[in-house]
Amino acid sequence: MAGRIPPEFIDDLLARTDIVDLIGSRIQLRKTGKNYQSRCPFHDEKTPSFTISPDKQFYHCFGCGVHGSAIGFLMEYDHLPFHEAIAELAQRVGLEVPSSGETVPSAPDHAPLLRVLEQAALLYRQQLRDHPDAARAIGYLKERGLTGEIAARFEIGFAPLVGNLILSRLGVTAENCERLLACGLIAEQDGRRYDRFRDRILFPIRDRRGRVIGFGGRLLGDGKPKYLNSPETPVFHKGRELYGLYEAQQANRKLTSLLVVEGYLDVIALAQFGISNVVATLGTATTTEHLQLLLRTVPELVFCFDGDRAGRVAAWKALETALPLVTGHQSLRFLFLPDGDDPDTLVRREGAEGFAAQVKQASTLSGFLFDHLSEQTETTSLDGRARLSNLAKPLIERVPPGIYRDLLNQRLAELTGLPPGVSERTTATHRPRVQLRQPLRLSLIAQAIALLLDDPGLASKAAQSDDAWRRASAPGTDILVQLIEILTTYPGMSKAALLERWREHPHFAYLQRLSVDPFLCDIAGGDVAAEFTGALNRLSAEVHKAERYRLFNQGLVGE
Ligand code: UTP
Ligand code: MN
Repeated sequence: MAGRIPPEFIDDLLARTDIVDLIGSRIQLRKTGKNYQSRCPFHDEKTPSFTISPDKQFYHCFGCGVHGSAIGFLMEYDHLPFHEAIAELAQRVGLEVPSSGETVPSAPDHAPLLRVLEQAALLYRQQLRDHPDAARAIGYLKERGLTGEIAARFEIGFAPLVGNLILSRLGVTAENCERLLACGLIAEQDGRRYDRFRDRILFPIRDRRGRVIGFGGRLLGDGKPKYLNSPETPVFHKGRELYGLYEAQQANRKLTSLLVVEGYLDVIALAQFGISNVVATLGTATTTEHLQLLLRTVPELVFCFDGDRAGRVAAWKALETALPLVTGHQSLRFLFLPDGDDPDTLVRREGAEGFAAQVKQASTLSGFLFDHLSEQTETTSLDGRARLSNLAKPLIERVPPGIYRDLLNQRLAELTGLPPGVSERTTATHRPRVQLRQPLRLSLIAQAIALLLDDPGLASKAAQSDDAWRRASAPGTDILVQLIEILTTYPGMSKAALLERWREHPHFAYLQRLSVDPFLCDIAGGDVAAEFTGALNRLSAEVHKAERYRLFNQGLVGE
């Protein structure tokens, strides 16, 4: 775990984040009154009981009991550790996560590598303007139809043939040379060091937070290898990164779908034509990590493949990789381009509209699945249909149990005329179902805490009640005191932000659960303010009584 993040930063982060936007970018929501609802992404259900409150900045499922803030949602839904969830939210709202200096020594510090990569990107970009050979590079880009504006947007650069630009300009100390080697900007052979990228157009590859982590370099013309990419380094993993994701997020305030293509120049050409929600894999097949990253970002993906045999093989591989990740909450589609085209050539010939028309025709995942299998067997004979069933079954089994898998089985049954296999349906897909609790007999302190957590505005009422309760010895009194203190210092805090303050506390889980106690909080029509002051007053009365009793025992007062 990295250093502690200041609580004020988390308050600020949550204040700038809209949980409705965040969750809405992953699952479809419907507005119902002042809240939003959907079917719960954490358990299987037919009617929506997953509720998001914009006022509280909090979600809660009345079916399975899950609940939390925007941070909690990212941790659960995207399976992110706490610090990554924070980084993700910070990125969304354009904040920099402050480091408190308490970083744990075991976490390797990538900052020096990232720094030389950023410096290299700048140098390459300058060469495209200033180097004597730049005219050739610019000529090539123009020939490919790129405008200066789009080249600037993707920060395209040029690596000259001679002179070992990077080594000579950045390899000034032994330490820096090691860094250049570690991030693959220079290579070493027989004790001689030299620049990896030479006489190539360079595409800086950024991570989703915008940091340059590697490069792709294309020859200016024919030759081999056409592209040279950064090797795997401590900061660059091809199987995890996508070219253009950062740029797509920058260009779209709210991304709802992404197009996945194969080449750097496909991303850039489409962006030039106004289609800016595009990413490319980096010369590798689509990995599970790619898909997880993509589906964490948007609910809708369209994979773009060449229409040739190689394209279909790659598409099928992507489908197989995707199967374990698909649920009814996302849409995955597959687009096969006309033979001989890639997105770059197609959009340049047919324009944005022509390209969009192609995207519209993309096959659904199930469509592609059954089309592809049906191509391998005729389905008119009984034998053929049995074969289709045998081919499809193991694939469908890879899909997580739930509605989507049932629909695939149903479709298979229609195609084969065989009754749908009984798929062993387990209800919970993410976690065991939590039973709704019976009304708890909560202590007065717990009731007051629960009411306050759910509606932090109540803190102002505390001043209006007898504050003898502060001297109570009941467990939880200190928590209630602290809650009121926090809220006095930071009035207007949302429920989500207030709860986040307790994440490190040993009773965090208990506090969260209290805050959604269905029998206390959000009682329809109930007067929560009266309940809250009532609980405090009763507590105070108990304290007075106990104090009188103690004094009486000490023989100081008569009764
Ligand atoms: P393509 O061969 O389809 O090239 O490779 P392209 O992107 O259309 O490029 P142009 O239009 O010919 O210039 C698709 C992707 O595969 C990786 C690169 O990431 C490239 O963008 N690739 C390709 C390599 O890594 N090395 C290669 O030699 C070729
Ligand atoms: Mn191309």
